[in-house]
Amino acid sequence: MKDKRMPILVVGSTKGGAGKSTLAANITVARANALGKDGLVLLVDGDEQRTATTFSDIRTEEMEKLVPEKRKPQFHANCLYGASIRSQVRALAPRYKEIIIDCGGRDTGSLRAALTVADTLLIPVQPRSVDIWALDAMVALVKEAREINEDLRAVVVLNAADPAGKDNDDALEYIRAIPELEVLPIIIGRRKAFANATANGMAVTEYQPKDPKAIEELSNLIQALRAPVKVKV
Ligand SMILES: Nc1ncnc2c1ncn2[C@@H]1O[C@H](COP(=O)(O)OP(=O)(O)OP(=O)(O)O)[C@@H](O)[C@H]1O
Ligand SMILES: [Mg+2]
Repeated sequence: MKDKRMPILVVGSTKGGAGKSTLAANITVARANALGKDGLVLLVDGDEQRTATTFSDIRTEEMEKLVPEKRKPQFHANCLYGASIRSQVRALAPRYKEIIIDCGGRDTGSLRAALTVADTLLIPVQPRSVDIWALDAMVALVKEAREINEDLRAVVVLNAADPAGKDNDDALEYIRAIPELEVLPIIIGRRKAFANATANGMAVTEYQPKDPKAIEELSNLIQALRAPVKVKV
């Protein structure tokens, strides 16, 4: 067993709309809350669409409306693009416990740079054929990144999935056959709480009314990302 977790996590995929920003935002907030102090987690927005930045701005505005005792631990947010992701993330890494990078849904210099500096790549995939076919492009990028970042862990999570069913099983079977990728043993369902929480600058752990299933799924995701990895021999 090798201890490889998620100090630098990139949430990436060349497929648009897979849920990268949603998961990046939820993981960032959940980790900031778990670590319990301001400024221990950095959210890097590597997408010119600036979804993660908008999320961070909304969150800051919402927090400022609260009395200081009620405010949650805050993360730092930074926009970085292209090769700067590699140089800046390396330079910033000693200052943070965890760094989460949200990349856009295309093959970009930002995604490629992030893959060279990350410990873990999380690829959200919706259990539909077009999304699954898009994994071929990610496998090529992972292989290339591993030439200089050989320990890069690349994991897939089914996102916005029905709670159970043939589509999930078919998707999992297909992905399990890809040797470069690890499939997390959990599923993130299609739940309004994820969309609503993110739109309000929150994680599902904070959003009211609480959705216990969404909270459990996010917690399972983080646990699976932080779990030690069995090294294949
Ligand atoms: N698990 C989920 N349940 C319900 N809605 C979801 C879930 N994940 C994502 N969504 C919704 O799907 C849409 C796309 O999500 P998101 O913006 O996170 O995708 P993305 O991969 O970051 O897209 P892009 O490639 O444009 O950056 C959003 O409306 C979001 O609220
Ligand atoms: Mg996005």
